[in-house]
Amino acid sequence: MTFGPGFRFGSATAAYQIEGAASEDGRGPSIWDTYSHTPGATEYGDTGDVACDHYHRWREDLGHITALGLDCYRLSISWPRVQPGGTGALNEAGVAFYRDLLDALRAAGVEPWVTLYHWDLPQELEDAGGWANRDTALAFAEYARLMATELGERVHTWTTLNEPWCSAYLGYASGVHAPGRTEPVAALRAVHHLNLAHGLAATAIRDVLGAQARVSVTLNLHALRAADPGSAADLDAVRQIDAVGNRAFTGPMLEGAYPDDLLADTAGLTAWDFVLPGDLAAIRQPLAALGVNYYATTMVRHAPDGDTTSDNSGHRESASSPWVGADRVAFVTEPGPYTEMGWNIAPEGLTALLLDLHGRYPGLPLVITENGAAFDDHVDADGRVRDVQRVAYVHDHLAAVAAAMDAGADVRGYFLWSLLDNFEWAWGYSRRFGIIRVDFDTLERTWKDSAHWYARLLAGRTLPPVSAAGPA
Ligand code: FCB
Repeated sequence: MTFGPGFRFGSATAAYQIEGAASEDGRGPSIWDTYSHTPGATEYGDTGDVACDHYHRWREDLGHITALGLDCYRLSISWPRVQPGGTGALNEAGVAFYRDLLDALRAAGVEPWVTLYHWDLPQELEDAGGWANRDTALAFAEYARLMATELGERVHTWTTLNEPWCSAYLGYASGVHAPGRTEPVAALRAVHHLNLAHGLAATAIRDVLGAQARVSVTLNLHALRAADPGSAADLDAVRQIDAVGNRAFTGPMLEGAYPDDLLADTAGLTAWDFVLPGDLAAIRQPLAALGVNYYATTMVRHAPDGDTTSDNSGHRESASSPWVGADRVAFVTEPGPYTEMGWNIAPEGLTALLLDLHGRYPGLPLVITENGAAFDDHVDADGRVRDVQRVAYVHDHLAAVAAAMDAGADVRGYFLWSLLDNFEWAWGYSRRFGIIRVDFDTLERTWKDSAHWYARLLAGRTLPPVSAAGPA
């Protein structure tokens, strides 16, 4: 199985998950600083205060990126590092950090793909209402304009938002992510303001850099299946989750409207009067690519008795559901095998998702901006991490991408999540996604077998067998 020279292979990280240096050089607090320091919010009370200390060790990490032979590297900018309060003056030291990193990536021949928002909202903006407040979208557009001005041509592709589903629903409805609010209507307001932020930021970037600037957005579209595909009630459960989970974003971003069924399903909560005239036109912007993050599938069924069990996504239990407006929908535990997150391993779901997107949006290039797996890695006596399950996971998902491409999907690249073991949000450091192991006591980096395998793939552009994992 061979990938053409135009297909881009990369790896992805996010600022709060790796940088550390949470209060250095003028960085302001974000909602994840506040949340992770809230007792009980994260596993073992873990925080991103130090994380992988990438802020100080980025040159070493760049060495790993180049040694792996990555074509491209997806990173995110910490908004509160470059603009501490989310509005007003820039923090020059923070901007300089990214400028140096981007320059070094480009000098090493690595394309930087930059995400502007990977969940670390400046705390000051949350104090003013966060994503439930329309002003946050306007502030985001200004932040995007400033970044385009400061970093400009250094960035290969701009990604406005990472997984706004998580920001809106996990942050404001179920409360398992920062800022930890459990207010369903605020979550829907957040959905809209995130969509608006995306559209306004895309326009701001193109105002500064020209129409040819490459702008994208990354969504975690749920690859949905009905427990009984022959049941109309189960198919309606799929429809509901597709509306609130997927089409709430693809509708306005790619088609220019919120889906009628979403508005109907949530009518008891809100009339969506926070969608102002002109917003829908502002949100729908041309995209250089749609970023697709994929880990697992989601199976749902109709719950006649209203007894809806929690989903299989592995997110921490919460009293509230992220599925605002869904009525009598239960989440069914998928057949295994599972990763350490409890997420089911289903590469065929990725093929189906890519083909579905290609069918609905034929001219839109697709890029896998995240895919990977957490496993309970062990360091063997000889120092090696034989993470054969991770290798198999990546191998099988790349084969699934190739299958989608063979069937006509326009997929341009693949970013493995993640370069390094890192702060896995509410799970803290207890879940390891890296192809490079980080010892969180010494911060030492060690290539796992999966890193060696990925380097081999990059060298040959042909999928090596799983058995070819490990050092040469
Ligand atoms: C995604 C996030 C990413 C990482 C992976 C495992 O939802 O975008 O930061 O946590 O899951």
